[in-house]
Amino acid sequence: MSNLFGNKIAAALLASALGFIGINKIASSAMKVDTPASPAYSLAVEETTGHDKPVEQAFPSDLWIASMDVTKGAKVFKKCTSCHNAEDGGKNGTGPALWNIVGRAQGGTSGFSYSTNMTALGGTWGYEELDTFLKKPSAYVPKTKMAFIGLKKEKDRAALIEFLRLRADAPLAPLTQAAPMPGAQEHAQEMPTLETPSEEHAPKAPTEEHAPAEHAPVKDGGH
Ligand code: HEC
Repeated sequence: MSNLFGNKIAAALLASALGFIGINKIASSAMKVDTPASPAYSLAVEETTGHDKPVEQAFPSDLWIASMDVTKGAKVFKKCTSCHNAEDGGKNGTGPALWNIVGRAQGGTSGFSYSTNMTALGGTWGYEELDTFLKKPSAYVPKTKMAFIGLKKEKDRAALIEFLRLRADAPLAPLTQAAPMPGAQEHAQEMPTLETPSEEHAPKAPTEEHAPAEHAPVKDGGH
């Protein structure tokens, strides 16, 4: 008898415990409803940006401009060569040929069968478009045929895009900081336009050309 009574109590306790768990489950699943579907992925992307500033500045950032290094870009491009050729007259491979890519129409290589979404872009591959695409191809062109995870490091993208800029019949002008921050004016003269060590940019560095005009000899009234 007492044994049976004990069982009844145990059963009652168990039942209420289960009920409690049940309520908790319902409560927590209700709370999950407004959580984004795939938070883990974007989190991983953030983490792997390393020590780069997590908050991106307006394009192009100072870091981007400072990272336009052709030599490094050539190394980064090795990640692309299994699918892409960037030589003059290079042929399409798994991916379209990339000679003249900077400034070219998106999805514009003849004889390459692009994905529907790539063809639908209809824009031009400017610096910012390339940067956004190469950061995460599948985000810029959903269902893209380009099976490449992306270049998470801004420095790598800047170097690579500078390398691609020069892989052209008539390279576009290098990217420079578009809009200086207010107050930057006073430092303008100390700042070279580009900080890359590359010789390509050397002739573009500011010169003393303006100096003679300001110090133009003032003739002491002639005779
Ligand atoms: C696994 C093969 C593969 C790799 C690796 C790859 N790509 Fe691609 N890429 C493609 C394919 C395929 C397309 C066409 C995508 C589409 O149609 O959706 C493409 C498209 C592109 C385009 C657009 C070209 C156009 O004509 O509009 C650019 C730019 C590009 N890739 C650059 C790169 C760069 C730079 C890298 C290296 C960081 C790279 N890709 C790595 C396969 C690849």
